[in-house]
Amino acid sequence: MADQVKATNITWHHGDIIREDREKSNGHRSLVLWFTGLSASGKSTLAQAVQTILFERGSKTYVLDGDNVRHGLNKDLGFSPADREENIRRIGEVSKLFSDAGIIVLTAFISPYRADRDKARAINGDSFVEVYVQCDLGVCEERDPKGLYKKARAGQIPEFTGISAPYEAPENAELVIDTSAETLEESAAKVVAYLEKRGLFSV
Ligand code: ADX
Repeated sequence: MADQVKATNITWHHGDIIREDREKSNGHRSLVLWFTGLSASGKSTLAQAVQTILFERGSKTYVLDGDNVRHGLNKDLGFSPADREENIRRIGEVSKLFSDAGIIVLTAFISPYRADRDKARAINGDSFVEVYVQCDLGVCEERDPKGLYKKARAGQIPEFTGISAPYEAPENAELVIDTSAETLEESAAKVVAYLEKRGLFSV
């Protein structure tokens, strides 16, 4: 079980420099911007575009991306429900560390299960902003930048999200962005405008 506690006799150490010190030094609060959606929905592209705006305005940012993290930290995980749960659990925890370090972290993972996203939300508190990158399956399949939908339809990739594995759309995402209906620039501007409106970002 992913959540099983094995370590005993451990103590939490409070550092001398805390999150609020880092936020003050950086001039902005730390956040977890959690982008979720089907493969090829535009999560990574949107996360990168939002990052560029925030970074160019002087913020400390970092993008955690599914394909990249699965090359290293999570290379021991596949795409079964249990492995996806563990993938998202680790990313939720890594995001928490990044935001504790004062960073605006942008995550781009399919994160298909509502319960797993909600756990990431729970551990990140009011820093967490869920962005549902909505895009019809048909459009994602047409884009198919990595040719994976074609392979999945041909039965060559088991448990492929949207084809042979589920995607549970968010019901209470802070933001819904339809990447098939607007340009990348419009979508990215919308995310930043939302953060500004909520007083989460004012650099
Ligand atoms: S998640 O479901 O556990 O959140 P994650 O975002 O890390 O997935 O990885 C998704 C990426 O892995 C996809 O963009 C795609 O490139 C690749 N991939 C390989 N196999 C699968 C699969 N069976 N289902 C979905 N994506 C897959």
